[in-house]
Amino acid sequence: MQRIDHPGVVRSARWAAAVALTACLAASAAGPATAVGQAAAPQPDYHPSMGDLMTMAVQPRHTKLGIAGKARNWPYAAYEASELKNAFGRIARTIPSFNGNDTAALVNTRIKEPLEVLDSAIKARDGRRFDAAYAEVTKACNVCHRTLNHDAVVIKVPDVGMFPDQDFRPR
Ligand code: HEC
Repeated sequence: MQRIDHPGVVRSARWAAAVALTACLAASAAGPATAVGQAAAPQPDYHPSMGDLMTMAVQPRHTKLGIAGKARNWPYAAYEASELKNAFGRIARTIPSFNGNDTAALVNTRIKEPLEVLDSAIKARDGRRFDAAYAEVTKACNVCHRTLNHDAVVIKVPDVGMFPDQDFRPR
């Protein structure tokens, strides 16, 4: 073990203590808001907005699903369709109401059924049915956007992928 009896070390330890004491005195003079010895405030929770959730939980999955369907990669499409469906479930729980509209009700009336039709096309490994069902899901995205006064957000069937590190071809 190293002993700290080097004069330079002792001096700098004293110096550090003095600096700390000065900081404490300054903090207590500033009032209770900066109480001495108080633990660092916990990081506030992150509450993603509807736009955040659309950008990170919905849009990339919609894109990936489109690419996987085009590649007729059924196991992956089944996985991603389930992820997308669950993302809508979590969104409805996280943001139960959007501008006074019941999110769960909107998800149920607007996109639940198109997602189920898509799922059955994937299970049937039917490419043509997938293409039609995927177009309907995409339409449903836009219907909800229009319903919630966000018709500026227009979703389309992707014609290009944006995930250069992921292979969407069937294994
Ligand atoms: C339940 C209704 C609803 C459904 C269904 C829905 N959206 Fe949205 N979406 C919204 C709302 C509301 C906004 C605007 C959120 C905001 O501005 O805070 C939005 C915004 C977006 C945005 C813009 C986010 C941004 O900040 O740039 C994208 C992208 C998006 N949605 C993608 C999709 C896709 C893809 C689908 C279909 C797979 C979809 N959405 C289905 C309600 C919905």
